[in-house]
Amino acid sequence: MTEEAGRAPWKARVLTLFPEMFPGPLGHSLAGKALERGDWCLETMDIRSFALDKHRSVDDTPFGGGPGMVMRPDVVDAALAAALVPAADGRPIGPAIYLSPRGRVLTQALVKDLADGPGCVLLCGRYEGLDERVIEARGLMEVSLGDFVLSGGELAALALMDAVVRLIPGVMGAAETLAEESFERGLLEYPHYTRPAVWQDRAVPEVLLSGHHEKINAWRLRQAEEVTRSRRPDLWAAYAKRAEPKRKA
Ligand SMILES: C[S@@+](CC[C@H](N)C(=O)[O-])C[C@H]1O[C@@H](n2cnc3c(N)ncnc32)[C@H](O)[C@@H]1O
Repeated sequence: MTEEAGRAPWKARVLTLFPEMFPGPLGHSLAGKALERGDWCLETMDIRSFALDKHRSVDDTPFGGGPGMVMRPDVVDAALAAALVPAADGRPIGPAIYLSPRGRVLTQALVKDLADGPGCVLLCGRYEGLDERVIEARGLMEVSLGDFVLSGGELAALALMDAVVRLIPGVMGAAETLAEESFERGLLEYPHYTRPAVWQDRAVPEVLLSGHHEKINAWRLRQAEEVTRSRRPDLWAAYAKRAEPKRKA
């Protein structure tokens, strides 16, 4: 196990009706190797095993009528109680997150906060979602993958874990790779090129072949600014605001 000095590996505990969906894609490539090394831990808990009746039901019809089924608060709460038990050393596992299209949209800033903590509990909804009372009673943090509706929280949980795990020291090869990525400086990333230098009559920008690192860095920053300004006015406005005092100084 390659734990950072004195730090237990980052741990995700996933509550789901489909535990067989994990680790899924996270069992492969860099995340999978890191999982094997014990650089991070993944535990799944089957929500159905907390069902209270002999039919093992986890959902029921919505009060007030309407389509679909709703996940029962008593069953989900029992699953959360089991998942939130602190580790043997008394450390809390981290925030309890309900993956939900109504939540705050997942950002790199939130991903970093989670990666800096001990781990998290990820609750995957199904059907029409959870009974509101268990969200309130447990103070769940609702996190969305974006403005669209998935069939369940499992893919969202996998995406969140993928983003967190690659920030864990040692999981990715070079730390510089992370430092220059989209969102790190509040900018989208500059464009990349590799061999061949000319492909279908399209040449790689001259400066990248110059070997002049200062010029290359300046070109990349300009490109990152341009792509952010044209594609993401929201990010650009925040970046320009932060850069303003520096320009004046
Ligand atoms: C079919 S969806 C429920 C959608 C819900 N009735 C609504 O309209 O907001 C079932 C589950 O998928 C998950 N889910 C769906 N879209 C998501 C998103 N954009 N981000 C995160 N989780 C999502 C949630 O866990 C949700 O409880």
